[in-house]
Amino acid sequence: MMQAKVSDSVYAARGHAFLERLTKVLSPNGILTGDQIGDAFIRDWARDRIGRTLAVVRPASAQEVSQVCRLCADAGVGIVPQGGHTGLVGGAQRPEENCIILSTQRMNGILDLDCDNLSCTVEAGVVLETLQATLKEQGQQFGVAIGSQGSAQIGGLISTNAGGMQVLRHGMMAAHVMGLELVLADGSIVSSISGLHKDNRGPDPLRLAIGGEGAFGIITKACLRISPQWQCAATAYVGCASFVDALALLRHLRGAAHEVLSAFEVMSAACLPLAKRVDPTLVPPLEAPVHVLVQLGSVLDLPLDSMLEDALAAAIEQGIAADAVVAKSDRQVQRLWALREGLVEGHSRRGYHVRSDVSLRLGQLPDAVSALEAMLEAEFPGWIAQSYGHMGDGNLHFNALPPETIAETEAREIGRQIEQRIFYMVLDLDGSFSAEHGIGRTKAGWFHETMPARHDLLARIKAALDPDTMMNPGCLLVQEDGPR
Ligand code: LAC
Ligand code: ZN
Repeated sequence: MMQAKVSDSVYAARGHAFLERLTKVLSPNGILTGDQIGDAFIRDWARDRIGRTLAVVRPASAQEVSQVCRLCADAGVGIVPQGGHTGLVGGAQRPEENCIILSTQRMNGILDLDCDNLSCTVEAGVVLETLQATLKEQGQQFGVAIGSQGSAQIGGLISTNAGGMQVLRHGMMAAHVMGLELVLADGSIVSSISGLHKDNRGPDPLRLAIGGEGAFGIITKACLRISPQWQCAATAYVGCASFVDALALLRHLRGAAHEVLSAFEVMSAACLPLAKRVDPTLVPPLEAPVHVLVQLGSVLDLPLDSMLEDALAAAIEQGIAADAVVAKSDRQVQRLWALREGLVEGHSRRGYHVRSDVSLRLGQLPDAVSALEAMLEAEFPGWIAQSYGHMGDGNLHFNALPPETIAETEAREIGRQIEQRIFYMVLDLDGSFSAEHGIGRTKAGWFHETMPARHDLLARIKAALDPDTMMNPGCLLVQEDGPR
């Protein structure tokens, strides 16, 4: 107790002079302290965690980020970078108050949109949806789409190598990064942004920041690959009798429409009531054990609706789909996607639940779902399985909702056991415990346990760049020693 008090007062004393110095290097309104710090900065989207921070610092440029890094290095205060704060593994907040949160929200300029070059250079705080809207006006588009795109920022998306709905077509965030600007722990600003599609002047060390979760430096700018806007798209909602049939449907659509297939999302029927809890009008257009959302898109002027209708009619004839609806209007498209997004919001609103983000070879997914659901039913009676995800790229979110009758503390205790069971079952299948959400603070222990060589190599690289562990301490890598 005594020790905690002493260290609190040390932080308080250091905090005061330190915060004054920070204020001086930032443009007006660049720092928030005490009651000015809104809930959104310290409480994560899933409402699983509450963080603590000395201050929220909001630099307006890479130069300001650099000055903040220098001051933090002098004061021995760590830096937790934060974008839209939509991450799900606790990467953008820290339970101890010996760090600042560095929000990228004021660095939100779209600097260079080059349609000839099919590239766009943006500051880290640009919100994905804003980028998409800006590109659309210019007849261009960006190949990453995720549920949280109204808040998620480019810097955070790169730092977590986000995935989302279109990975089967365009790849993850890493596939879209042509170059980066990064501020390192010592305040130096380094850039690999050349705007060149081909640039083999040695490996780009800055790519370490992709999926690096702020542990190697803070992304301040990115040059992104863009592509011409689709001329046509088609969306269908399909009912299948099982995940085995859904996989057969995917195989079938690959044969019929591979080049234009851009999303293949699955949801078990048990997920749909959660969407309805968010909005009672969110009712699926069909009933089936497994629901599939399919999207096609092309820059060519193709009759995608009829192609999709024909492909699905053939699938129904072959018995791999039970029923299907092809959307006839933009509003219907939006309503169908709202079911997919609504279930995620529904999980969050229901309160504490087990979340997972696992990756498997596509062919393993149906058996994995059966095994995980059987495990939950047999070992954790009353818990409700929620199997959904991005089947097109082998990414399953197997979640579990606690019985509404048990208290949250008990649910969390049992939830930890469920997480361990999922983890080991996926390990047995040579799958990944993190497909697209990253490691953060939640999974750093698992990362160290299962991939010690990779973990330690990253730790050695980090030690060279950030010897005092100032950059997002405790995130991605297991670290005993935090900031001084
Ligand atoms: C999704 C997030 C949770 O797929 O990854 O909706
Ligand atoms: Zn996902």
